[in-house]
Amino acid sequence: MDGADAASVDADFAEAVLAGLGAERKYLLSKHLYDAEGSALFDRITELEDYYPTRTEAAILRASAARLADHLPPGAALVEPGAGSGEKTRILLDALPGLGAYAPVDISGEHLEAAAARLRADYPDLPVHAVVADFASRFALPEAVAGMPAVVFFPGSTIGNFTKPAARDLLAAFRAIPGVAGLVIGVDLPKDPARLVRAYDDGEGVTAAFNLNLLARINRELAGDFDLEAFAHEARWNADESRIEMHLRSLRRQRVRVLGRTFDFADGETIHTENSHKFPVDGFRAIAASAGWAPVDLWLDPERLFSVHVFAPH
Ligand code: AVI
Repeated sequence: MDGADAASVDADFAEAVLAGLGAERKYLLSKHLYDAEGSALFDRITELEDYYPTRTEAAILRASAARLADHLPPGAALVEPGAGSGEKTRILLDALPGLGAYAPVDISGEHLEAAAARLRADYPDLPVHAVVADFASRFALPEAVAGMPAVVFFPGSTIGNFTKPAARDLLAAFRAIPGVAGLVIGVDLPKDPARLVRAYDDGEGVTAAFNLNLLARINRELAGDFDLEAFAHEARWNADESRIEMHLRSLRRQRVRVLGRTFDFADGETIHTENSHKFPVDGFRAIAASAGWAPVDLWLDPERLFSVHVFAPH
């Protein structure tokens, strides 16, 4: 029962889990994959041979980021919603010495401050203003940055984890940042489904552990009794929606308890845990256009696995 007393339960997580497991087609929200354990597993995924997006995007940025200087107003601030470990940020900072400031935005203040401190040490001339906020809702930039033209950097194809309407809303929220002058965004491309499935069901089993950790998290935090041996990770290509879906498949008929509620699973029934949309260049440009963005530049790797779009407000 550790972690499940009323005082320590994360109400947002609990509410979402009870709603998702109680739904006709069971689902869990992919944002809940990222507790400390899940974030560490995701970091391992980004280094896997089978998971091509991270290294491919980094190579694209290394090859092309200097071109961004042509589209940047002088003294622009680089704003990074959901700032990650900082490796891709550094590629941009190295290529763009004229930046006026860097503003990472993340809901986890601890994680954010640690990353900001490392950047300040390595880029002593660059003002770094960390913004603790949920980037998926509208956020305000600190005064020191608010007067500067802003360029939003959203790498990793994180946009693919949103539904299409939510992706459009997020792009519109970026467009609404006062003084916004550009958007640099990484977007994974459609490709051979076998390659895609391998990227999300890797040979080392790290993605399986990442997906199953969501059940372990429910056991840890919400007094769940999921038997992790009785569920299997599944990655499927949904061609109609142009997305990889992650599911957890029940390997037998079973009953599971979470926070005192019971949930019945049929043999073979799945919990849908993540969507990862893959957008062709024109399809993504159409969504961006509906959110007020016009294409300015496009960077691709030689194999055409991944795209980095540069947009300006229209
Ligand atoms: C964070 N996000 C862009 C990853 C993706 O590729 O959709 C999450 C992920 N899920 C399984 N592997 C990686």
